[in-house]
Order: sequence, then structure tokens, then C-alpha cells
Amino acid sequence: MIDVRLSSRFPSERPADVAVLFQFSEEARPWGSTDSRLVQRIGRLARGDSFRGRRGQSFLWHAGTRVAKRWLLIGLGDRQSWDVQQLRQVCAIVVQRCRQIGARSVSLPLADPRALDTAESAVIERMVAALASASLRFDKYRSKPEKADALKRASIHVPGKLSSSRRGASERGKLEARAIQFTQELVNEPGGALPPRELAMRAQRMARRTGLTCRVLDEAGLKRQGMGAILGVGAGSSQPPRLIHLSYRPKGRVRSKVALVGKGITFDSGGLSLKPATSMEDMKSDKAGAAAVLGAMSVVPALGLPLEVHAVVAAAENMPGGRALKPGDVVRTCSGKTVEVLNTDAEGRLVLADALTYAARLGVKEMVDVATLTGAIMIALGTKVFGVMGNRPEIVGRLRRAAAEAGEQVWELPLVPAYREQLKSSIADLKNTGDRWGGAIFAGLFLEAFVDRSVSWAHLDIAGPAFSGKGRPGAPKGASGTPVPTLLRYLELTAEA
Ligand code: BES
Ligand code: MN
Ligand code: ZN
Repeated sequence: MIDVRLSSRFPSERPADVAVLFQFSEEARPWGSTDSRLVQRIGRLARGDSFRGRRGQSFLWHAGTRVAKRWLLIGLGDRQSWDVQQLRQVCAIVVQRCRQIGARSVSLPLADPRALDTAESAVIERMVAALASASLRFDKYRSKPEKADALKRASIHVPGKLSSSRRGASERGKLEARAIQFTQELVNEPGGALPPRELAMRAQRMARRTGLTCRVLDEAGLKRQGMGAILGVGAGSSQPPRLIHLSYRPKGRVRSKVALVGKGITFDSGGLSLKPATSMEDMKSDKAGAAAVLGAMSVVPALGLPLEVHAVVAAAENMPGGRALKPGDVVRTCSGKTVEVLNTDAEGRLVLADALTYAARLGVKEMVDVATLTGAIMIALGTKVFGVMGNRPEIVGRLRRAAAEAGEQVWELPLVPAYREQLKSSIADLKNTGDRWGGAIFAGLFLEAFVDRSVSWAHLDIAGPAFSGKGRPGAPKGASGTPVPTLLRYLELTAEA
């Protein structure tokens, strides 16, 4: 992770390796430096090179001056659509460009809080988080690193004093980047290297480091709790399933009690309802929900919120071994409800059913589950947006606000009451698959059936943005760390409410 810091000078070093200026597309010249002659000159040079300030557009000037070796002009697009999410992407582009040119350090101006309609501390927080997490790489399996990574430091220019609120915002941003890093490392880890037991061990190690309480249910524990769904999904694998429970209790007063619940399928082959080979390629990422919940949890003690926070992860490997669930089998969940498993590839909802019941029994007021649950959500929302569903408008609204403030994209899907019909099984209480259409909603309705109405509950289906095997513009190859920023902001908003 590169070192991101605040600096009251711009550029922070002289000569700066790279100094960044920003420009909106409808404006004639860049901003970011108080040296107006220099700004004018760079603006002219860039225009001559057909730079127009379009979002993501960049112009590099090898100035070789005493102030900076290179100036990098970055387009922000039009002011109208400029928001926190765009800021996040622009920070990623800055890091990417600096890497391409082999820069060791970069100085950039603080984005204008007025243009973003937000507080300065929020802008600092977003920029620090985005710059630090844009720089993450997963290269532990390369015998030699692809290319030495020169970029070591980014300095954000804040004119005036480095007040404690500014430093606090910067620290908060760094915490988020660390949570994202923890998440990405778990998601990127191959299925063979991170079976449920190993995931539980990593959670345990993290808990010890951060002062969280950790409890792990092994097979015997799962049996005692009657968790027939998690056991059923894990039955086809030689790697036994686990339930991981981390908790945080603040020292002082407790404003609320919440649980984050994660789907931790360490590899999803589909089970006997086997996936085709190409659909299986990225299925090590089926633990992304669990990884996000653990990543967020890893910084909860440092956030110091007046919230009791629980993380509950259902970890299993979905494989077609000799003891695997068969289509048509019935499992008994720990809620007592039975489920006819018509498709063993719809395993996430099964393990989550047990995990949600476990979480509710902790006496939480609300819970949010996070899962790479359906291919259908990818059809509906694509690869940049995750879905949210919930049993109360208030919690869904809070999550949507959290995502907007954190720079992530979420869209609500309706839990259409009429579709509940599809949950009915001919031999058990429920079945695990519905019609061909509306698959993400069906999965949401299935989960809802395991949540008591007295608990506020929301479900995040992150199958689209969680992982990209090929890499996408602005997003890294592999795990994205979604929705860690949203979860952290959600916890903060919940503590304020
Ligand atoms: N883990 C998958 C969902 C998924 C698909 C995540 C693609 C990321 C990328 C989930 O367990 C699954 O297989 N869902 C099935 C459900 C179906 C059998 C009802 C699906 O979406 O096809
Ligand atoms: Mn599946
Ligand atoms: Zn799955």
C-alpha cells in the first residue's frame, strides 16, 4: 500500500516527481496550484494537445522545472455529474498514470468540497481511501514481481493547518484502505488455498490482532446447533464447513446492536448441479461476501463506534463429492424450517439461512447480509452496481446513503410479495429455486423467510462488482473490495442515528 499523507505545501516536495492539477470539462483552465502563470501555461499546453478536461482524460507535461519534474493534468468531466464516486475513480486513474510513468511520489490538490457538496473531512477521507486502495496488488503467487512498483507516496495538499479533524479524516481513510486490502487478499486467494478451516484461522488471527472475540463452530458445533443447511452444502467436499462469529463490544455506551452476515463459499463448483467449466473459473470469489464482512470487521475496533457489532460468516466448499446433497434432497435449517434443494448450485441462500438465524439469536436490532448470491443480479445491474433488498425502507435507505457517501453504486430491487408463491415446495417448507425470471429477487425472498420481522434486515447481492477475472477500466483485476466502503459508512450512520 502506498503511503498517503496530507501536506500543507504543494507540491509537497521540490522538485515533485509528479504534481497533479485538475480541470472540469466546461472550464477553460486547470486548478490546484496558486501559481496562476504556471496554471495558465499548462492549460495552454494541454489544450494544444486536445486536452478538454473530459473525465479520465490526462495530459502529461515533462516540465523539468524546479517545482516539479512532471505535471499531470487530470480531467474531471462536467461539474454537474461530478460526485464522490467519480472522485474515487479519478484517484484510481492518478495512481494508474503515475505507475505507468514510473513515478515514485505524487502531489495532488484536495478536490473542492463545495463542488462535491460535502464537508472537507469527507473529501480527505475519500481521497486517502481511494489513493491507498488503488495501489493494492496481489502478487504473492508470482515467483518474481511483474515490475518493480516505483510509486511509494501520495501527498494531498490541504492549505493551512493540519488540524486534528483533518488528521482524523486521513486516518479514517487509511483504515478503510486496510479493510479493503484484507478483503481483497481473502477473495483473491485460490479456493484450494483457503478452505473453510483456513478462512476461520485467518479470521481468528485477525481477531487476536484487533482485539475482537472469535468463536468458530466446527462440524460437531454445527451439528449441535442443528445447522443442516451449512452441513448439507459442505457435505460434498473433503473440506469441512465452519461458522465463524466475531464480535466487538465497545467500552462505553452502546447505541445499537448489529450483525454483518457473509456468504463464505470458498469455492462454488455448483455441487452435483455442476457449473460449466467457464462459469467455474472465478468461483474462488464466492467468498467475497464473507471477506467483505471480515474486512470491515477488522477495522471496527479502530473506528471506536458506540455499536455492538457481530460478524457471522457461513463458510463451506460446494463440491460434488460422494456425500454431496442431491437435487431433491431436503435439509433442515437451524430455524427448524426445511428446504427442498432442487438445485445444489443455489447453495448461498442455504448457508445464509443458518447464518441469519444464528445472527438473530444474538439479539441484534438489525442485520445486513453480503453475498455473491446470483448470476441474475449481474444480468439486472451489470458489473458496477450491487443490489440491495430489505424488509424495511429505513435500513435500505441508510445503506443507499452509505453507498453514495462512500462512492459505491447500489440499486434497490423490490421483494415482490406475489413472488413468494414460488418459495413453496411440494414436500418441504420451502424450495431453494424459483422461476427462471427474477432470480435475484427470489433469492432475496428466500432469505427474508428466515428473518424475523422484528429485526431490520437488508441483503446486498454483490455478484456483479465483487470480482473481475479480466479486470475492468478503473477496477483492478481480481477482487474489488466491494462493499467494504459502504459497510463502514453504514456502521457510522447507524451509530449516529
Ligand atoms: N455463486 C453463484 C452466483 C454467482 C454467479 C456469483 C456468477 C458470481 C458470478 C451462486 O451460488 C449460484 O450459482 N447461483 C445460481 C442460482 C441458480 C441455480 C438458481 C445462479 O445464479 O445461476
Ligand atoms: Mn452456486
Ligand atoms: Zn455460490
